[in-house]
Amino acid sequence: MKVAIVTDKPRFKVLPTDEGIMEDKQKGKTIKGLKEVLSKKFNCIDLVFDDNLITRLKKEKVDLVFNLCNGINGDARLSQLPAALEYAGIPYTSSSPLGHGLAYNKIYSCKLFQEAKIPTPKFTYVSRIEEIENLNIDFPVLVKPKDEGSSRGIHEDSLIFNEDDLIQKVEKDLTTYNPPIMITEYIEGREFTVGVLGNGENLTVLPILEVDFSNLPEHLNNIYSFEVKFHYGDRTIFHIPAKLKRETKKRIERIAIKAYSTLGMRDYARIDIRLRDRIPYVLEVNSLPGLMKGHSDLTKMAEACKLGYSGLIMKIVKNAINRYYLNDKLNYKTV
Ligand SMILES: Nc1ncnc2c1ncn2[C@@H]1O[C@H](COP(=O)(O)OP(=O)(O)OP(=O)(O)O)[C@@H](O)[C@H]1O
Ligand SMILES: [Mg+2]
Repeated sequence: MKVAIVTDKPRFKVLPTDEGIMEDKQKGKTIKGLKEVLSKKFNCIDLVFDDNLITRLKKEKVDLVFNLCNGINGDARLSQLPAALEYAGIPYTSSSPLGHGLAYNKIYSCKLFQEAKIPTPKFTYVSRIEEIENLNIDFPVLVKPKDEGSSRGIHEDSLIFNEDDLIQKVEKDLTTYNPPIMITEYIEGREFTVGVLGNGENLTVLPILEVDFSNLPEHLNNIYSFEVKFHYGDRTIFHIPAKLKRETKKRIERIAIKAYSTLGMRDYARIDIRLRDRIPYVLEVNSLPGLMKGHSDLTKMAEACKLGYSGLIMKIVKNAINRYYLNDKLNYKTV
């Protein structure tokens, strides 16, 4: 069986900053780790998502693509590779174009959570600053872009306590990020992230990770802002598995699975949750969470249980293989 790890072109070309350099470095390390694991079982190559990708995949007779593509541009950028592969009839890991589209746009995903009675912070959104006047808002609120990741657009000044600051912040964000901008109820409480693996009814939850902000300097808010992620990483404490009463743990797991299924996630995803008054509120679902060994949340969760890093990568591939009923054709035995 032949597996191709497919990644984006370097981000540095369109994002010539530290963020771009960092993203490309992490991408390189992720490919290296994945290749080490996959090469033990499969014929494994890595390719870049460019205009020639489909021709290359067909020429190389690739059976399965391991999708690592966040896309470069556009508000459906995570959906682009899955859409191209569906068109070409080539099996791939992780969610469908629709699943990624729904998860990546927090307005759509949160509307679906509300519909499915999954607790999520109350929210509204505005495309023009005048729209704020007609809103009846309870402060504090957290202002955030609807379709970014890695806390881009979630800064220390995103937590807002009055209307004047809100107008100023939304005005600024409307010039930087894709409108509309979300205004969400601020949930004060413990923060968790939950890894879910599998498909349909056959889902498993990895050890829950708690992000503990208690060691941050006083002047910082209790949020996982861009500043905290990138400048105070060493002051952020991670507990895996999170210390939770059995019943609370079960409740978080149940809600995470419900959010995963509601968005039609496939193979693996990571769900961010805040707990207030024993209710787990879903902030978002990450449909293509990072897989960098020893660094990304999901790999830390896998390393905290018997699955381990290589077990996680193989499990993702096995989940995809099972979905496509590729077992017989490929003479590959799954457990
Ligand atoms: N409604 C909310 N109430 C409280 N905190 C929030 C809320 N929304 C976001 N946050 C804080 O901001 C952080 C980042 O938010 P979110 O997960 O939506 O953004 P992201 O950039 O997509 O994250 P990721 O890095 O997981 O891709 C959260 O981890 C949380 O600490
Ligand atoms: Mg998040």
